[in-house]
Amino acid sequence: MPTVSLALGTHSYDVHVSNGALDSAGFFSTRARLGGRAALITDTNVYPQYGERVKRSLEDADYAVSVHVVDAGEKSKSLNVMNQVVEEMVSAGHDRTSFVVALGGGVVGDLAGFIASVYYRGIPYVQIPTSVMAQVDSSVGGKTALNLPSGKNLIGSFHQPRFVVADPTALLSLPERVLREGMAEMVKHAAIRRPKMLVILRQLADELPIGFSLSNIERLPSLIAENIEIKARIVEKDERETTGTRAFLNFGHTLGHGIEASVSYGDLLHGEVVSLGIRAALYLSRKLIGLPVHDEAEVLQTLSSLKLPLQLPRKVDPGTVLAHAMTDKKFRGGKIRFVLLKRLGEPVLSDAVTIDDLKEALSVLGTAPRIRKLH
Ligand SMILES: NC(=O)c1ccc[n+]([C@@H]2O[C@H](COP(=O)([O-])OP(=O)(O)OC[C@H]3O[C@@H](n4cnc5c(N)ncnc54)[C@H](O)[C@@H]3O)[C@@H](O)[C@H]2O)c1
Ligand SMILES: [Zn+2]
Repeated sequence: MPTVSLALGTHSYDVHVSNGALDSAGFFSTRARLGGRAALITDTNVYPQYGERVKRSLEDADYAVSVHVVDAGEKSKSLNVMNQVVEEMVSAGHDRTSFVVALGGGVVGDLAGFIASVYYRGIPYVQIPTSVMAQVDSSVGGKTALNLPSGKNLIGSFHQPRFVVADPTALLSLPERVLREGMAEMVKHAAIRRPKMLVILRQLADELPIGFSLSNIERLPSLIAENIEIKARIVEKDERETTGTRAFLNFGHTLGHGIEASVSYGDLLHGEVVSLGIRAALYLSRKLIGLPVHDEAEVLQTLSSLKLPLQLPRKVDPGTVLAHAMTDKKFRGGKIRFVLLKRLGEPVLSDAVTIDDLKEALSVLGTAPRIRKLH
């Protein structure tokens, strides 16, 4: 079973990646010496698919389990939903010796992680991610968050899980669009750290019309583990995003977040705006620091073969995107901290990107991309 270890001093942990690992949640909890009661937090799409299996695995390992099912979707990352779950946990008798199990996509992971970080001033939690996005990105690294009406992820904490169990077979039930958007984060990882992965992603893309299936599921654990490894090594260098290294993970996200904030919820998924943001970041990288045309073309080709969007929908107003991008946390004193690529695998943090550059990149995003066929 591929295991990725994160060396983070007293809160180091392992990420176990293997087909069928969902059924080992209880085993890993015992091995991590977790206490007697578990609060399983999941959502309305994931619970019917995998909830009972995980519950049984925990019960077989002698844990008393309470189940808390929230509505699927971003709206559950709220103080209201948190309040509701916390009250349920109190009624179920959880105290500081309990632990939280987050079973679901990034929404459940962020919500459950945040609850664990404040319940009784902080209790342990474990992540069992079930979306591509959660397996390769959000479940690893210890960032938790809730949204406020005034913006996404405005409340949160750093709270590392005790372990992560990623079971690629859980991805078989993902809607195709959600599966594809999660692959955008893999393209991001490949672009900043592992250019060779772009070839593998293009091969996989050819098989995606049928989604992940039993014919390609065997290849997934190593691909997912490779992505987790990339994120893990970056998080180890900069756990709290203070030295700048962790900011490389924001590649494609600055304009991406601006676009995300400018569209109605559900019009464009997170991975889809990241795809658009990556195209803009590639353009700026070529213009400002000479990213080779061939490198840009390879990433664009990969995003295109994954059928991720590369052109800004007409109804999205570039002015609104820019306004949102400028209120982003990364905008300080009129300057934006922008991740550019010098070449594939070599990101740099730049403060040389001007508002006019952003405007230009957005106007390029309004045009159809020219995709060169690569092999
Ligand atoms: N903490 C971090 O470091 C971090 C990093 C990236 C993203 N995020 C957060 O993650 C969230 C996005 O994550 P997401 O894309 O997983 O969204 P999500 O949790 O909403 O999941 C997407 C959809 O897929 C469904 N789903 C999940 N697993 C499924 C499965 N196996 N089978 C069928 N349906 C399934 C969910 O119910 C939901 O409808 C955002 O809130 C984002 O802010 C956090
Ligand atoms: Zn992202």
